[in-house]
Amino acid sequence: MRPKIIAGNWKMFKTPEESKDLINGIKIKLTVPLGNTKVIVCPPFTSLSLVQALLTGSSIALGAQNMYLEDEGAFTGEISPKMLRSVGCTYVILGHSERRQYFNETNEFINRKARKALSSGLTPIICVGETLEQREKNITDQIVTTQVKGVLREISSSEVENLIIAYEPIWAIGTGKTATPAQAQEVHLLIRKIIGQTYSWATAEKVVIQYGGSVKPENSRELLTQSDIDGALVGGACLKAESFVTIVENAILTSKK
Ligand code: 13P
Repeated sequence: MRPKIIAGNWKMFKTPEESKDLINGIKIKLTVPLGNTKVIVCPPFTSLSLVQALLTGSSIALGAQNMYLEDEGAFTGEISPKMLRSVGCTYVILGHSERRQYFNETNEFINRKARKALSSGLTPIICVGETLEQREKNITDQIVTTQVKGVLREISSSEVENLIIAYEPIWAIGTGKTATPAQAQEVHLLIRKIIGQTYSWATAEKVVIQYGGSVKPENSRELLTQSDIDGALVGGACLKAESFVTIVENAILTSKK
């Protein structure tokens, strides 16, 4: 059975001092056994070391929000997979829509980063999703298909089982508008079918597909009950320990079914 994976994308929030309060709050509030549920926190680069130290002995994993695709070199302002590994990261978010929108990241570039992450021992969480305009034009399937095929190019089936796809409809990010569980499930199933066609159905069944976009304690349970929604990539609601932990608790409840 696929695990449920809840990841908190802290985006460009939390100084080290604030990060300390948030992670301590999460640790204190998260008292139930995780079972088949995994929890990942993705703080900004400047808080990674500190959060890693505070996570010692905890089952919460550490992720970064981006990386470059070389181990070292003259790439001013960039952070390498090797550096991320050295501060305890095991996950990295790649191709978030904010990176596609503000930093012009393409499917091709995200694919190169994903391959580098996999060969560096990091599990990439690769984001895909359509804009409101694309949804209204009824081209969601086409857009998501192009993105999924593009980001998975030249990734082997054993590798694909080790990555996470996050479906994040752009119109639902930070807007308070969530895709309905049925809308999200439909795209998640499409993504699984694309993976099934590209690799095999057995492989597709193993890939974790998260939903992201205004996930909150109140809507998380219904979303996570959908058969192809295997977790959540949470933005705003992960910045408060209480709401993040409630989402994790809902994931634990749904994975028991
Ligand atoms: P919100 O949960 O704030 O909508 O953000 C979602 C997101 O972009 C997670 O990566």
